[in-house]
Amino acid sequence: MGKRYRVVQAGCGGMGQGWLKMLSESPLVELVGVVDIRQEAAEAAAEKFGLTKAHAGTDLKKAIAAHKPEIVVDVTIPAAHKEVTLTALAAGCHVLGEKPLADSMASARAMVQAARKARRVYMISQNYRWAKEIRAIKKAIEAGLIGTVTTFNIDFYIGAHFGGFRDEMAHPLLLDMSIHHFDMMRCVTGADPVAVYCHEFSPHGSWYKGDVSAMAVFEMSRGLVFNYRGSWCAEGFNTSWNGDWRIVGDKGSIRFDPATPPTAELVTLNAPGFKRPTESKALPLEESLAGQAGSLQRFIEAIESGRAPETSCWDNIKSLAMVFGAVESAQAGKRVPIKIGLGGKAASKKPKPAAMRKKRR
Ligand SMILES: NC(=O)c1ccc[n+]([C@@H]2O[C@H](COP(=O)([O-])OP(=O)(O)OC[C@H]3O[C@@H](n4cnc5c(N)ncnc54)[C@H](O)[C@@H]3O)[C@@H](O)[C@H]2O)c1
Repeated sequence: MGKRYRVVQAGCGGMGQGWLKMLSESPLVELVGVVDIRQEAAEAAAEKFGLTKAHAGTDLKKAIAAHKPEIVVDVTIPAAHKEVTLTALAAGCHVLGEKPLADSMASARAMVQAARKARRVYMISQNYRWAKEIRAIKKAIEAGLIGTVTTFNIDFYIGAHFGGFRDEMAHPLLLDMSIHHFDMMRCVTGADPVAVYCHEFSPHGSWYKGDVSAMAVFEMSRGLVFNYRGSWCAEGFNTSWNGDWRIVGDKGSIRFDPATPPTAELVTLNAPGFKRPTESKALPLEESLAGQAGSLQRFIEAIESGRAPETSCWDNIKSLAMVFGAVESAQAGKRVPIKIGLGGKAASKKPKPAAMRKKRR
C-alpha cells in the first residue's frame, strides 16, 4: 500500500462526519471531493475538515468528472445507495458503501451486477465485523473450538432516539440495525440463510413510524438455527450495540455480552452423568484495525490484491437477503425461503474461510 487513492465522499450527514474525519487523517487516501444533495452540508464538511482544495457540491457525476477519483465512499441514506453506487461504478470508480447495501433486493441485485460489469471492487462497510471480539469468536469457531455450531441467539435491546430518516423508515430495526447482527452471525459461522419466520411489530409507545421490534427464527445452512430478538424501542437494561450472544456447538458454547468478554464453556470429559463436566476459556483477543479505518484498509487491500474483500457486495447481499426475507415473512405471516436471486455465478464469488470449507458436507 504505497499509493494514495483519490476519494470523493457522497453524504455528509451524521455518519458522514465520522468517515470524513477518518479519511482526512488517513495516509491511504486523499479526499478530493465531498458531495451532498444539500450544498450547505457539503460546504460545511469541506470547511470543518480543512479540505480547502476539494470539490464541495451536489452532483456526484460532475465531481467525478472534474476530480477523477479512483474511489467513491457512499455515506448517503439507504434510499440513495443505488443511485450513488451506479453513478460511481459507471464512471469507473471502486465503491466503499455504508450498510445496508440497498433498500430493496431488486436494487441490491442491480448494484451487484453493475459491479461485475464494471469489474470494480464494491464493498460494504460492515464495520462491526472488524472488532477484536468478533474476530476472536470467528477464529474460535473456524478452529472447531465448540464443534459444529447448531444454535445462535442474539438479543438486542436499545431505546434509541435518533430523529431523522430512521423515524420515517418502514423497517428501521431490520434494515438499518439488524443487518449488522445478521452479518456478524454469518461472519463468525460462515453459514448462509435458507429460510425465516419473523414477527415484526410496533410496540406500545413507539416513537417510530415503522415497525421497530422483531423476533425472527432463521434456518441457516448446515442445520444451524439462528434466533433473533431485537428492538430499538426498549427502555432500560439496554444491551450493547452487538447485542447479547449465545452460540451453542456440540462440544460447548460461547457467550458474549457487556458483562462477558467472549468466553467459551467446553466439555472436558464425555463421562456419564446428568451434566458433562466443563471448563471456561476466555477467547484470546488480538488487535484488529476496527471501525471505518478497518473497512478502508481491507477495501484497499482488495483493490491491490485483486481478491474479493470479506464484505464484497457478492457476499453482503446474503446478509441483506436475511433482512428482506424477515420483512417478507412478517408481511406474509408465514415462514419464507430466502432467495438471493443472482444465480450460480454470484454464489461462486463468495470468499470462504478455509476451515469452514473443509467442514462443509
Ligand atoms: N456502520 C455504522 O455503524 C453506521 C452508523 C450510522 C449510520 N450508518 C449508515 O450510514 C448511512 C448514512 O447515515 P447517517 O446517519 O449519516 O444519515 P444522515 O441522514 O445523517 O446523513 C445522510 C446524508 O446523505 C445526504 N444524501 C441523501 N441523498 C443523497 C444523495 N443522493 N447524494 C448525496 N447525498 C445524499 C443527506 O443530505 C445527508 O446529509 C446510512 O446508510 C446508515 O445506515 C452506519
